[in-house]
Amino acid sequence: MDYETNASEKTEWGMIGTMLPFDCRLGREIYSCPVAPSTQIAAKDGGAGSAEHGTIWITDHQIAGRGRRDRTWSSAPGLDLTFSVLVRPKKIRAASAPLIGLAAALSVAEAVGETNSELPRPMIKWPNDVLFGEKKFCGVISEAATIGSSVLYAAVGIGVNVNSTEDDLPEPDSPDRPRPTSMLIESRGVGGLACRYGRPALLAAILARFDRYLVDIESGGDAFFPAYGDLCSTIGRAVRLITDEGERIVEVEGVDRDGSLAVIEADGTLDYITAADVVHIRHEAE
Ligand code: BTN
Repeated sequence: MDYETNASEKTEWGMIGTMLPFDCRLGREIYSCPVAPSTQIAAKDGGAGSAEHGTIWITDHQIAGRGRRDRTWSSAPGLDLTFSVLVRPKKIRAASAPLIGLAAALSVAEAVGETNSELPRPMIKWPNDVLFGEKKFCGVISEAATIGSSVLYAAVGIGVNVNSTEDDLPEPDSPDRPRPTSMLIESRGVGGLACRYGRPALLAAILARFDRYLVDIESGGDAFFPAYGDLCSTIGRAVRLITDEGERIVEVEGVDRDGSLAVIEADGTLDYITAADVVHIRHEAE
């Protein structure tokens, strides 16, 4: 698949550089392609090769989008955001690599929240889903390559349902999950009008925040941890955890400094979860 670089500024993505804060290191190099299998493949190739920190791969029509835990990700051609960011952290240790995906989700939640003050407040379902209420409109997959305790790179894939309608969105991948939604669908509830959102400006806003949170995490996360805790609706509630070993109900205490979920098990013990699917119990009962 041939990606076009932003150097030509022939596509709508070519102007992103002019929308970024001057010190933002992400999005300086953008490869775009009208149709691509998965931007994650390109980002991982770039990571294994010599692509610079902050390089973006973006497509208008992703035909083999990949999600977490071997799921697929589908999005409406020309309406949504499907892109991957290559991150080459200098000071994030391998054990803390999950923070990169958490920071991406937080950046989307905040950037979307700024687009339209009448939208419901975007919230995060640990680790990386961004929701309106209980309905998902953004997924993040972060795949890190490590050497010893260092992160060589992370390919961070972000899919945001921006302007898709109900007809464009897939059925939920399991019956106990709510239907996905989009920014446009949620906008109908506010004033009766659905407004189409500009994707380049939204992308730039996401990148600007993501860059700031990555820098912050590398110096201790003083801004990141409280901001993530504030928007993570998984904290403080009962959830069903689905892991490779099976399913169980736990109470969520919080998110630890390495990004793991601190939970109280049924027998009262404290446990730290690094990989699982989470189902918010309140939704199951609704
Ligand atoms: C999930 O919620 O399971 C994560 C979905 C991630 C989707 C994005 S879209 C851009 C990038 N390319 C992919 O193939 N996947 C990610």
